[in-house]
Amino acid sequence: MRALVRETRLTAGQLVAPLFVVQGSDVRQAIASMPGQARLSPDLVVEEARRLAALGVGGVLLFGIPDHKDPEGAAAADPDGPIPWALRALRAADLPLVLMADVCLCEYTTHGHCGLLEGDRIANDASLGPLTDAALAYAAAGADIVAPSAMLDGQVAAIRAALDAEGHGDTAILAYAAKHASALYGPFRDAADSAPAFGDRRSYQMDPANARDAVRELALDAAEGADILMVKPAITSLDVLARARERFDLPLAAYQVSGELAMLEAAAERGWLDRRAAGLELLTAIARAGADIIVTYLAADAAGWLAER
Ligand code: PBG
Ligand code: ZN
Repeated sequence: MRALVRETRLTAGQLVAPLFVVQGSDVRQAIASMPGQARLSPDLVVEEARRLAALGVGGVLLFGIPDHKDPEGAAAADPDGPIPWALRALRAADLPLVLMADVCLCEYTTHGHCGLLEGDRIANDASLGPLTDAALAYAAAGADIVAPSAMLDGQVAAIRAALDAEGHGDTAILAYAAKHASALYGPFRDAADSAPAFGDRRSYQMDPANARDAVRELALDAAEGADILMVKPAITSLDVLARARERFDLPLAAYQVSGELAMLEAAAERGWLDRRAAGLELLTAIARAGADIIVTYLAADAAGWLAER
């Protein structure tokens, strides 16, 4: 009877798996701070995507880790960079997965910030061109969705206009719209080698104390043409998700970030939490708060658990 009256039904198809892509072939580098996750070359990304598709997972979100970084993050828009390579290989594999590509510069810049610098400050408007170039490169390589994550003002409008002008009107935008300057991104920054070399991201990411402000950021990205609005981290933003659910008719996504995974994995490893039960409970709470789509490193495991249930 509990199953019959359940209000929130988690499904594999609403889960999206983040994947870290490196150049080369047959490369699999484990990530120490993210048990079970690895940096993969495009050929192994396709293998992993096949496994995810067979489990019924809805999509993949690609992050590129280039061989060479520079202050401008030029590799982000390189058609021979890791994300375009992986996208072309995934397109050729023709799997029932939505292909998403993260659009940011922090994985590609030597300084690790999400945009271009002018002195020691982020140059917001000057960064929109390089971010747009990256989005265009991923759309051309076959991304169904581009996901700008730099939290720079005007990035969604700039990317939408460029996609439309260049014949990629069908490429959707998932906007990292309300992204807190969180302590929970640490393991990701190890994985992507993207920690800022100086300072922090507080001039572009939001104060975790602010929820009304987060809703304003969501409204701005909706007005700029975002197709899907995302909040991040997930478990610290359930109130933002609930408010967003009331206010917007757009699909909502939440990103269960690397630090959320780390807390679960560390506790499970010590036998302090039941990984499966706690993992499903966390994902269910995120869906209950209003997320249609959940980006999670648990996607494959959770899909397996849901199939057994
Ligand atoms: C970079 C980006 C980050 C994450 C997604 N895109 C890290 C950051 O802002 O430093 C975090 C994901 C995670 O922690 O799992 N723009
Ligand atoms: Zn970034």
